[in-house]
Amino acid sequence: MNKVRVPQHVAIIMDGNGRWAKARRMPRSYGHLNGVKRVDEIVAAAQRMGVKALTLFAFSSENWKRPKAEVSMLMKTLASNLDRKAKELHRLGIRFKVIGRSEGVPDLVLRSLENAQEKTHGNNGMTLNLAFNYGARQEIVDAVRKIASDAKKGKLRVEKIDEKTVSDALYTKDLPDPDLLIRTSGEMRISNFLLWQLSYAEFYFTNKHWPEFTEKEFQKAILDFQGRQRRYGAARSKKG
Ligand code: IPE
Ligand code: IPE
Ligand code: MG
Repeated sequence: MNKVRVPQHVAIIMDGNGRWAKARRMPRSYGHLNGVKRVDEIVAAAQRMGVKALTLFAFSSENWKRPKAEVSMLMKTLASNLDRKAKELHRLGIRFKVIGRSEGVPDLVLRSLENAQEKTHGNNGMTLNLAFNYGARQEIVDAVRKIASDAKKGKLRVEKIDEKTVSDALYTKDLPDPDLLIRTSGEMRISNFLLWQLSYAEFYFTNKHWPEFTEKEFQKAILDFQGRQRRYGAARSKKG
């Protein structure tokens, strides 16, 4: 693998836990529990490869539509794993961040997210960015509200609003835009994920379900990315 052309920021839609479990005649919760194992593996692999930021889509604003029992299972799984993992992330020098709205998220989960962020905020290794109760349209609405309120207070002139103003008002303000978006399990849609930030990302879709997305599969995605020509609208090509 070419160490030079490793994407700086990789975003992943971790999809297919339910289908993976169903194929094994197991409940959806079994799929989610097996998905957690892959998170550990991919975080470690990304850091070893030299990825600077990894954003994982764990729970969308729309996932509240699922049965109550599944939602609460997902919340509990996150809280218990985070408490266990925070120390480990800190030991690895990883900075943990969360993006999304806090409304509706149980206190127990908010506390775990807050603790993990506090514990690791001084680290300068890879950033692990967890999209939780996240929706890109909601994020854009929040950004518009912030910009409008700054303009109303006279902190910002309307003519001065540019792309950077918008980027800086998003939850991802301190991260570069993703170079690569991976979605597992065969769906070819972005499901309200990072709409602004993915403008020029390369997309990689695989039929593997998230619980079977191993380090080897991740390396395949990176290799594929390294073969892409990124043109950004220009005629000359720029690789990686
Ligand atoms: C991804 O797997 C995990 C979450 C969205 C929380 P799914 O639960 O969406 O699995 P499928 O897509 O139903 O197979
Ligand atoms: C997207 O997956 C959200 C996460 C992976 C957390 P979904 O399974 O919720 O997306 P749809 O419903 O197939 O679009
Ligand atoms: Mg799904």
